[in-house]
Amino acid sequence: MAASLLGRRTVDLQLRRRRLWWLYPANVVVWLTFFGLYSLWTIVFFHSDQFHQYLSPFYSPQVAVGRTPVSPALFIFYVPLGFRATCYYYRKAYYRSFFGDPSACSRVEPSQMAALSPTGRRSSYRGESRLPFVLNNLHRFFMYLVVGFVVVLWIDAIRSFYYQGHLGFGLGTGLMVINMVLLTGYTFGCHSLRHLVGGGVDCFSCVLAGVQRHQVWKGASWLNARHSAFAWLSLFSLILTDGYIRLLQSGVIHDPHLGF
Ligand code: FES
Repeated sequence: MAASLLGRRTVDLQLRRRRLWWLYPANVVVWLTFFGLYSLWTIVFFHSDQFHQYLSPFYSPQVAVGRTPVSPALFIFYVPLGFRATCYYYRKAYYRSFFGDPSACSRVEPSQMAALSPTGRRSSYRGESRLPFVLNNLHRFFMYLVVGFVVVLWIDAIRSFYYQGHLGFGLGTGLMVINMVLLTGYTFGCHSLRHLVGGGVDCFSCVLAGVQRHQVWKGASWLNARHSAFAWLSLFSLILTDGYIRLLQSGVIHDPHLGF
């Protein structure tokens, strides 16, 4: 009796999931659009977002040529945003959600429908072999650059403990550190990075520093299994950190702070 009740519940849950298949793509469309627009707004309309020792991740690193500061948009658009846009997880998410290709596992994708059509003609879908999607193959190179960004952003997060000449800890410090933990988890769980540290090795005990490499690969694999969670959480923590510093800068809120 209990077993049949359990079976019934499982079937109900599966049916419910099928009916709500659109929830995942709808969420992806809403949040990715929001993040894209927010990034555009923050980079195009503002030149800095800094409050005392807190520097927003959207404006780091701060670089100047001579005395002229270089717009952070030059880096942010091409490196961290390029890294996310070409990420294997986000690709799956936005191909499914924005292009419906496929919209869900149990649904037929448009290119297959074209192949099954009476004319037998396939759509013009060319995968990632033509512009613009061929640019997704640059993901590995974005990854090399983003590792440098992660180091710089960690330095910013550590600097945030130094408050007006004293050691201290504020809500902003906490947000910056949490943001960096999530960004590090996202970056080091990257499929390309995992391949770089151990993907091409058939036998770890046969290569130089094999034991250490195996440990690093295991760490990257652990993060990689949680890549989608880190992808979303780091996206929200970026917005939250930038928004918090922006509100401090404009005097709307105060930073609760403990000095030592
Ligand atoms: Fe997602 Fe590389 S695969 S960041």
